[in-house]
Amino acid sequence: MDGVTIVSHPLVQHKLTILRDRDSSIQLFRTVVRETATLLCYEVTRDLPTDLVRIETPIAVTDAPRIAGKKLVFAPILRAGLAMAEGMLDLVPSARIAHIGLYRDPLSLQAVEYYFKTPDDISERHVIVVDPMLATGHTAVAAIDRLKECGATDIRFVCLLAARTGAEGLRAAHPDVPVWTAAVDDELDDHGYIVPGLGDAGDRTYGTR
Ligand code: URA
Repeated sequence: MDGVTIVSHPLVQHKLTILRDRDSSIQLFRTVVRETATLLCYEVTRDLPTDLVRIETPIAVTDAPRIAGKKLVFAPILRAGLAMAEGMLDLVPSARIAHIGLYRDPLSLQAVEYYFKTPDDISERHVIVVDPMLATGHTAVAAIDRLKECGATDIRFVCLLAARTGAEGLRAAHPDVPVWTAAVDDELDDHGYIVPGLGDAGDRTYGTR
């Protein structure tokens, strides 16, 4: 699928299997969401530009690469995106966080906003939207609509698992926003859950069901 990168690294795939397994405990699920997000963060930042800075090692002066250009904002969609954002912060502790409070109405499956707060300089930053599940795509599209209203122009989307229809819907609505995911599943059930999926990522992270 154009613009959708499936991260096939064995570590990511192994961790996704743990997440899919209904017998994984809440503690294990939470830990592995965080670890997988760290690995996905590594992939989504692969093409960030670097420049050379002159430093002194204990042995000699050398020119060494350092990340250049725009700074990062991680934008978790609440609440399930929070655990992923923690894993990404493990790798980029200086990143800013934009909180996007959206929930899926259980009947219409449409996104409803209840909280939205971003750094003021979001237009000058790389924005990485994080949500474990890209299911119908409605929430992701609404989140990116709102970020663009606030001036964001450089947006990427990272999830653990996408449904084909959600990935296609997101790419159709926002062709400028590339997607990184550990896998794409073919189906959604009548309640908008990804099949085979991994269940409700928020409930499994926070033990609410
Ligand atoms: N949200 C989830 O947590 N799981 C799904 O399968 C779909 C949306």
